[in-house]
Amino acid sequence: MTDSNERKTEWEQRYDGGRTGWDRGEPSPMLDQWLAAGKVPEGKVLVPGCGHGHEVAELIHAGRQVTAVDIATQPVIRLMAQLAERDLHADVIQTDLLHWQPAEPFDAVYEQTCLCALDPGHWQAYAQRLADWLVPGGKLLALFMQTGREGGPPFDCPVADMRALFDDARWQWPDEPPQQVPHPNGLIELAYEITRR
Ligand SMILES: C[S@@+](CC[C@H](N)C(=O)[O-])C[C@H]1O[C@@H](n2cnc3c(N)ncnc32)[C@H](O)[C@@H]1O
Repeated sequence: MTDSNERKTEWEQRYDGGRTGWDRGEPSPMLDQWLAAGKVPEGKVLVPGCGHGHEVAELIHAGRQVTAVDIATQPVIRLMAQLAERDLHADVIQTDLLHWQPAEPFDAVYEQTCLCALDPGHWQAYAQRLADWLVPGGKLLALFMQTGREGGPPFDCPVADMRALFDDARWQWPDEPPQQVPHPNGLIELAYEITRR
């Protein structure tokens, strides 16, 4: 497993080299659906591993108080500049999520393919952090990347593994099957609205 400096360097190199195949260039259609269906709680929303953060402005427009976090410099600077240009306000923080601790918990976490960017050796620690960062009853709106192959990033996030990671003791899973969200890169994300108990 990599340390924090190595993780930062790896992601900075991907951005600096334009190797950003995960970037849709626009907000995910799933966020529109969740907002329209009233699935995104009012209040404070965390966007971990926000990247270029196309969803951040959308959440702000929808009246949410947004905190966006990423380890890499380029996307954080770009997102800050774009928000400032549009006179939009969010807390945009450059840090390693595996070390960061927010001052207060969130009402929702919009987890769009940050988990699959982390080495699976860190998944338990990250899942514990997500549990700690949400208020009781808070929502984890997750897009779990399906690659069906070894290695990564993106690392495959099979449903059975996700159910073990976000266990029933701490999380309530929906009864409905997930929505399949095609990604322009040809992969599929599975969308789940999971509730922190
Ligand atoms: C697959 S990209 C997804 C970006 C964005 N959510 C999207 O869907 O376009 C993963 C993002 O997580 C960030 N990241 C990876 N490891 C991180 C860490 N330990 N702490 C914070 N951000 C991290 C990367 O810099 C990258 O922007």
